[in-house]
Amino acid sequence: MALTPELSQQTKSKEIVGVTLMSETVDNWSQIQTFQAKPNDLLICTYPKSGTTWIQEIVDMIEQNGDVEKCRRDIIQHRHPFIEWAWPPQPSGVDKANEMPSPRVLKTHLPTQLLPPSFWTSNCKFLYVARNAKDCMVSYYHFYRMSKRLPDPGSWDEYFETFINGKVIWGSWFDHVREWWEIRDRYQILFLFYEDMKRDPKHEIQKVMQFMGKNLDEAVLDKIVQETSFERMKENPMTNRSTVPRSVMDQSISPFMRKGTVGDWKNHFTVAQNERFDAIYKQKMEGTSINFCMEL
Ligand code: A3P
Repeated sequence: MALTPELSQQTKSKEIVGVTLMSETVDNWSQIQTFQAKPNDLLICTYPKSGTTWIQEIVDMIEQNGDVEKCRRDIIQHRHPFIEWAWPPQPSGVDKANEMPSPRVLKTHLPTQLLPPSFWTSNCKFLYVARNAKDCMVSYYHFYRMSKRLPDPGSWDEYFETFINGKVIWGSWFDHVREWWEIRDRYQILFLFYEDMKRDPKHEIQKVMQFMGKNLDEAVLDKIVQETSFERMKENPMTNRSTVPRSVMDQSISPFMRKGTVGDWKNHFTVAQNERFDAIYKQKMEGTSINFCMEL
C-alpha cells in the first residue's frame, strides 16, 4: 500500500558518533559542518524542549527594542535559521543562515561535539538555555506525540527508556547539558535556566539584554516581560506554531505551547520511575557543579 502524505512526513533517525539525529540532518552533514560562523553571530543553543522558542522571542524583542510589530514580521521558525535543519526540497538551515544579513541570530540543538567548528573559532556569542531533565523529558514526550516528523514515542514507559538511554533525536540530555555547562567559561556563553526565567523573567531578560550589548529602559523591559509570557506567546500565531499544517504538527493531540510550567514531571513519573531516574541522573551527572530547580 502506498504511504499517505502524512506518513511520509516522518523522519528516519540516523546516528553520528552515537548521537541520534534526523536522517535529513545526517544526509546534509558536510554542508552543516563547513558552515561559516561570523564574530557577530549570536547562537541560541538548547536541548529540545528547553524553552528555545521562548528565548528566541525574548532575543528578537530585545533586538527590535520591544517593537511588537517588528517581531510579528514572520513566524519564529523563519526569524532565526536553525543550523542543522534539513528537509529537502526546502532550503536548509545553512542556506537560510547564508542568506541572512548580519548581525545574525541562529539556533541549534546540537551537542558541543557536533557543532560546526567555525563557531568555536569565530569568537561569536552563545546563549544556552537549560531546563531540568524531568520537565524536558515530559515536554519532549508530548512533542513526539504531536509531531508527525518524529517517530512514534510509544507509551510513556517505552519513551522513558528511550530518553534515559539518550536515544531520542538530538541525543542524550545528560551529555548535552553537561558538555555545554563544562565549556561555559571558555567561550562567550550566557548560560540560563528555564526555571530562573519562570521565577524572575525580568532579571533573566536583563541579563540577555546586557549580553547582547543593548540598553533598554524599564518600560521596554516590562513590555518584553509581558509580551513573552506563556499566555501571550500561546495566543500569538507567530510563536504558537498554529501556521504549521496539521500533517506536520497535530496540535489537537498536544499543543505546542502546552503548559509552560516547572514541575509537570510530577504528573507523569511514577514513584519507581522517579527513584530510578534520580539514580541515573546522579551517575551520569557525577562531578558536574550544575544544579537544577525541580519545582518553584
Ligand atoms: P511544555 O511542553 O512543558 O509546556 P522549545 O521551544 O524548546 O520546543 O520548548 C517548548 C517548551 O517551552 C514547552 O514546554 C512550551 O510550553 C514552553 N514555553 C514556550 N514558550 C514559553 C513561555 N513564554 N513561557 C514558559 N514556557 C514556554
